Amino acid sequence: AKVAVLISGTGSNMAALLYASRRDDCPYEIVLVGSNDPEAGGLALAKAEGIATFALPHKGMKRAEHDAAMERAVLDAGAQYIALAGYMRILSPEFVSRWEGRMLNIHPSLLPKYKGLDTHARAIEAGDSHAGCSVHLVTAELDDGPVLGQTPVAVVPGDTPATLAGRVLFAEHQLYSRMLEKLVTRPFRADWLLERVGEIAL
Ligand code: GRF
Repeated sequence: AKVAVLISGTGSNMAALLYASRRDDCPYEIVLVGSNDPEAGGLALAKAEGIATFALPHKGMKRAEHDAAMERAVLDAGAQYIALAGYMRILSPEFVSRWEGRMLNIHPSLLPKYKGLDTHARAIEAGDSHAGCSVHLVTAELDDGPVLGQTPVAVVPGDTPATLAGRVLFAEHQLYSRMLEKLVTRPFRADWLLERVGEIAL
């Protein structure tokens, strides 16, 4: 399966997806890395690894217009799936509905807890024993789609948002490629997807 990854920053999750895909029997390949920030660190890495890249700053563009240009690049690359990996733009509902069931996001919390930003600070503040990460299908509501998988990560005494974020990232890197493989091979079709017929367009 061909996958486009959209990023806005460092791209460590993109790198994790990319290197996991180097395994001989990996069921997906990354055909494009796109960004709304031409300076995103992950773009330089993707380029150096021989992956096609596309960057288009969103400043001064309407959301729908920017999304349409991103989508054109994704389709031109032949991608059938999109993995959002630290893509810091909210996507228009039209874009989301066209990719429903085929677009994943990774979020650094145990959803439904802590949608949005500052997830680690919020977990520490709340005194949670575990923070973590979730991979979910993207729907029009922010960080709200069906969760495919999660990894809890213990909060330790003295944790700051930064130290916790670092450990959660290790978990993110493992979880994301596993869930992307799961999505493109759909072994959960029977037990998971059938319960949601009508909810997800495949
Ligand atoms: C990750 O924590 C991801 O969960 C969140 O943004 C961060 C992106 O990091 N959505 P990176 O660019 O993948 O290193």
